[in-house]
Amino acid sequence: MSSFSFRHQHVFVSGGSSGINLGIAKAFARAGAHVVVMSRSADKVAQAAAELEALGAQALGLSADVRDPAAVQAALEQAHARFGPIDVLVSGAAGNFIAPAKDLSPNGFKTVVDIDLNGSFHVLRLAYPMLRKPGASVINISAPQGVNPTMYQVHACAAKAGIDMMTKVLALEWGEDGIRVNSISPGPIGDTEGMRRLAPTADALERAVSTVPLLRMGSTDDVAHMALFLSSELASYVTGAIIPVDGGAA
Ligand code: NAP
Ligand code: COA
Repeated sequence: MSSFSFRHQHVFVSGGSSGINLGIAKAFARAGAHVVVMSRSADKVAQAAAELEALGAQALGLSADVRDPAAVQAALEQAHARFGPIDVLVSGAAGNFIAPAKDLSPNGFKTVVDIDLNGSFHVLRLAYPMLRKPGASVINISAPQGVNPTMYQVHACAAKAGIDMMTKVLALEWGEDGIRVNSISPGPIGDTEGMRRLAPTADALERAVSTVPLLRMGSTDDVAHMALFLSSELASYVTGAIIPVDGGAA
């Protein structure tokens, strides 16, 4: 998709080293942005940055765990020193697995909430001073679990519901700065770690697709195109929204 231009804008993607978030990072790279991807694995962020550079972007891969505010702060400072104020902030780092609540240990629950919800808070709060004012677009990557009660997903449901409420509250607080804050809630997206974990067999995948009115899995491009739209002038009156990209599955 090249009809949106983000030429020389600074796009920072937390959890941007693989899957849906890397797809978003690549879409912004193709649209001319300078792109930073941050995640835990130094190897993954280096590989992702190389893929972004191969698309013609200036790119930076930074290793940090979103559960560690000092590490997130250091990464944001490095990104800011290289590319200046952040025009688009995507918070997508997450972890998930299937576990019945009765068997889930306190640390299992805490781990997912710490990565998805508390980690998103660290990224957004620490990035705030570096966001372009006015004009920045903040996008949290949510999931249908944020609104749909889902078996064996009590940890992810709680975390993503919290993220959606954080989106709405920060849209209120940061509106006066000219910062828009939205969530994208992807449905089942093909060839991603999330789907490999939640629908690990061919049968489970088929069942997942059968619940989608458009009768196909989404692609990482489907999600990335919504991120481009939300960060463009065309969406300049859209904030505090939780936007499904799910083929109608919600
Ligand atoms: P993925 O490829 O595993 O993406 C997760 C990313 O987060 C990776 O880059 C991972 O890299 C990073 N990450 C994990 N823990 C982290 C931590 N503690 N600190 C920093 N980075 C961390 O999975 P995906 O399926 O594409 O999911 C991406 C996003 O989409 C998630 O927010 C997920 O909830 C959401 N989503 C996915 C689907 C789907 O169908 N796949 C549907 C709805 C929502 P490292 O391992 O290097 O840290
Ligand atoms: N079922 C039940 N509990 C599980 C589990 C599973 N499949 N996987 C991990 N846990 C529990 C662990 O047992 C541990 O709890 P304990 O100390 O009581 O035993 C706790 O969760 C933390 O596990 P650990 O492996 O130490 O966490 P981590 O911080 O190294 O990794 C995860 C985080 C568990 C979320 C890991 O799966 C991950 O890194 N995921 C990122 C990729 C991903 O999930 N992609 C999809 C995006 S939605």
